[in-house]
Amino acid sequence: MDKILVHGGHPLRGTVRISGSKNSSLPILAAALLTRERCVIRGVPDLSDIHYMLTILSHLGCEVERASGVVIIKAERIRTEAPYELVRKMRASVCVLGPLLGREHEACVSLPGGCVIGDRPIDLHLRGFEALGAAVRVQGGNIKLFAPSLRGSSVSMRGSHGTTVLGTGNVMMAAVLADGITEIHDAAEEPEVVDLANFLISMGAKIRGAGTRHIVVEGVGELHGTDYTVIPDRIEAGTMLVAGAIAGGELTVNHVRPDHLEAVIAPLQSAGFHVESGAKSVTIRPNGSVSPLHLETSPYPGFPTDMQAQMCALLVRAPGVSVVTDHVFPQRFMHVAELSRMGAQIKLQHPTAVITGNGSLSGAPVMASDLRASAALLLAGLAAEGVTEINRVYHIDRGYEHIDDKLNDVGAKIERVKA
Ligand code: EPZ
Repeated sequence: MDKILVHGGHPLRGTVRISGSKNSSLPILAAALLTRERCVIRGVPDLSDIHYMLTILSHLGCEVERASGVVIIKAERIRTEAPYELVRKMRASVCVLGPLLGREHEACVSLPGGCVIGDRPIDLHLRGFEALGAAVRVQGGNIKLFAPSLRGSSVSMRGSHGTTVLGTGNVMMAAVLADGITEIHDAAEEPEVVDLANFLISMGAKIRGAGTRHIVVEGVGELHGTDYTVIPDRIEAGTMLVAGAIAGGELTVNHVRPDHLEAVIAPLQSAGFHVESGAKSVTIRPNGSVSPLHLETSPYPGFPTDMQAQMCALLVRAPGVSVVTDHVFPQRFMHVAELSRMGAQIKLQHPTAVITGNGSLSGAPVMASDLRASAALLLAGLAAEGVTEINRVYHIDRGYEHIDDKLNDVGAKIERVKA
């Protein structure tokens, strides 16, 4: 397994081009199952999670072509079964359920495993499918769906931790070919849900209200092919802005949607950084000392849980006491034990981390665990004294396209050691 060595103490200067959104691409690729016609999807990042999704789609019978960021999918004749050995690798595989049900009125997909950020139930997805008329059975570790017909209905996506992003997408995809009108209440408002809705609309779907809590889907007879470009990855952009903040220097991220980054920019400004937005870029530079923060994650447009670990790494550098609470994934603190190995003083009282910022970090061998925790360790390494060795770096490659090359191009000193 590859590892990376991060040599700390090198400020970052220059511009990083942000890739297309992983969390937009995954459900959009699955949505191509809803038509027999050719779908061209542009701006798809080169990530292992994307590779997993394309493998599943090929297994389901899709013709899949891929060349430098452009994916072409043709789902002429499809199977409706996705086996455990494929699904277990990536939880987001669940987003094939909606399109399989919507198009074939049946699906048999292995239940996704949990993962280190918490058990990842899909009860809200299944409740939505039942409301549309599907029979849901869990058998032998598989979810089996069957619907003689799908009819529009009123569905709530509200759960004990707020709404569900992929659940909202799954129900939208199951509803676009159903008979009648589906009202989705308590819908996720994330930009990735809006991107999926826009992709479906470009295929001929009738969807109103994406980006609000109330989405209305009017079923149509069939969907056609399309040519679509996914939005930039707001979490990669946020991660790079925190890299600039933690390493010092002046860093610009371009090819971004600044309007998707407001909940990330605001705490960086509160922590004392100068952050300026252009039409498609955001620039960050230090502005004196770093101030401690009280941060709480919540569904969009709130502060994103996918940026929680990265901000913890930054707040280790803020003298004083910071309090970070994750309401979305209360267990999502795998980064804390590893940051502590680098000298951080963090007390965990789930779902809250209390960080006593001491300004300094020292390089150490650390273990990557989940995608965003691993990114947080890399960021900490940029500011640490000495060298930080990050093992199991495949976690980072799941969600960040060539992150070491991108950071080295703006002054970082990161080596990738092939194991
Ligand atoms: C999406 O996951 C993202 N993944 C996650 O990003 C992100 O952290 C999450 O949304 C929240 O923003 C993709 O888009 C591929 P949820 P999703 O359903 O949709 C609970 C990353 O790092 N819940 O919105 O699976 C759930 O346990 C990944 O890129 C239920 O209780 O997340 C959690 O506490 C990690 N029942 C909360 O809701 C359900 O049926 C939010 O989960 C579904 C979810």
